[in-house]
Amino acid sequence: MKQLKPFFIHKEIGCVLDVGTGSGNFLLVLKDIFPAAKIIGVDPNNESLVSAAQKFHDVRFKRMSAEQLDFPNHSFDVVSISMALHHLTDVDLALNEMKRVVKPGGWIIINELFSDNLNEAQQVHRMVHHFGSRIDRIQGINHNQAFKKHEILQLVNEAGIKIQFHFEHKKEENKKLTSVEVNEKVAKMKKRLDTVKTHPDYETLKLQINEFREKVVVFGFQSATRVVIVGQVS
Ligand SMILES: C[S@@+](CC[C@H](N)C(=O)[O-])C[C@H]1O[C@@H](n2cnc3c(N)ncnc32)[C@H](O)[C@@H]1O
Repeated sequence: MKQLKPFFIHKEIGCVLDVGTGSGNFLLVLKDIFPAAKIIGVDPNNESLVSAAQKFHDVRFKRMSAEQLDFPNHSFDVVSISMALHHLTDVDLALNEMKRVVKPGGWIIINELFSDNLNEAQQVHRMVHHFGSRIDRIQGINHNQAFKKHEILQLVNEAGIKIQFHFEHKKEENKKLTSVEVNEKVAKMKKRLDTVKTHPDYETLKLQINEFREKVVVFGFQSATRVVIVGQVS
């Protein structure tokens, strides 16, 4: 994400909020762009917060959902959300909350995977993602399929966040997995499937594991492309 650092280099950024911070993957990016800023990470999942707190001693963490940010208006110079939009129960509400807590003239950064225009190896990733998100939904956990890129841009526009620029980011190149790696991924999928044994979708999901095995051998595996959006709030 080398485009972000030069954009922010001469801007005064004192405090940053990372929404849906999870175990802190995006904090590494934020700490690189904003080395002097105070950073707070929020997430509703306590286990993830504990894991993030073990890795980042200089970041403060709070348990909180994006849809209800427990901060006063205009608290932060930058508010970010990474790989979490498709986990939210109410994206519009969350974007409005992010807008509310950012200072006038402040910035919103969104990093989100999308589901269209993917190569065949990325479509294998999408298949695994949709498999996992379906199981989460069966278990009552909000986890939607990934949005299309234009849908993400539309959500941000409709929330009244003025998009300054956006770019595509690929986390990695296409990787041919070894048979051991394929077996590990299949074993993980089977373990997840076992948790929904009595559900009517069980057989369909089981077939998806076979399809995954066939496709990953032919096409390899590559994470879906993400769109990174930098918007400003007036
Ligand atoms: C795929 S992880 C992304 C973690 C991290 N931001 C990253 O870039 O890797 C999605 C995160 O969204 C969180 N999440 C789920 N529902 C949420 C909500 N309503 N508000 C905020 N975060 C939520 C999950 O707990 C999880 O940590």
